[in-house]
Amino acid sequence: MKLLEIQSSVREVGSISRSLSDEFIKSLQAAHSGTQHQRRDVGSNPPEHPTDLWVKANYALPEKRSPEMIAALTHSETLIEELLWADHLLLGVPMYNLSVPSTFKAYLDNIVRINRTFTFDPATYAFQGLAKGRKGLIITPSSGNFVVGTPMGNMNFCDTYLRVVLGFIGIEDVTVVPVPDQFMSDEIRQREIATARAKLMNL
Ligand SMILES: Cc1cc2nc3c(=O)[nH]c(=O)nc-3n(C[C@H](O)[C@H](O)[C@H](O)COP(=O)(O)O)c2cc1C
Repeated sequence: MKLLEIQSSVREVGSISRSLSDEFIKSLQAAHSGTQHQRRDVGSNPPEHPTDLWVKANYALPEKRSPEMIAALTHSETLIEELLWADHLLLGVPMYNLSVPSTFKAYLDNIVRINRTFTFDPATYAFQGLAKGRKGLIITPSSGNFVVGTPMGNMNFCDTYLRVVLGFIGIEDVTVVPVPDQFMSDEIRQREIATARAKLMNL
């Protein structure tokens, strides 16, 4: 198994998504000693944002790109190669203002790229994902409870968005493990963490 772990919490201490991810990876490595693991931390080391030159480079044919254009895409290429190396993704993505952390959005802007992770046929208007066959697991804590299917679930633009955007590049086998109510009493918080941990150990 080739596992790419991506963390996007800005918290380096006390982060639920980081600690549950660590537990999951330790347990996975104990069960599958051959697991290869790479880590990308967009929370503590945010990806570059696309720029004007980046956009021009992205839509230029590879053989027509100037050295400056190639340089503008280097970071994005690194992130895409890393993604395509993996057969499994573990994403630590807390809910930030009902959506994903801005650093994670910047990550997506770098990896969702035409002819790299999806194709588009203007004749048929058909999109096709090029990262097919990979499996995703998302650990998504939140202070409140925005779990899909609960009363405030319609405000969840975090894991619902991730499912769509990962599906767009071909990653359709995605499991979401929410960790809601982290702003509630310690008893409720711990209960939600234990529920998420049990789901992760089961996986
Ligand atoms: C900038 C920011 C925005 C947040 N927005 C929300 C939100 O919209 N809904 C929510 O329930 N929690 C929100 N939270 C709380 C986090 O989701 C919660 O603290 C979660 O546990 C963070 O993940 P972590 O423990 O892995 O750091 C926000 C936190 C931050 C820092």
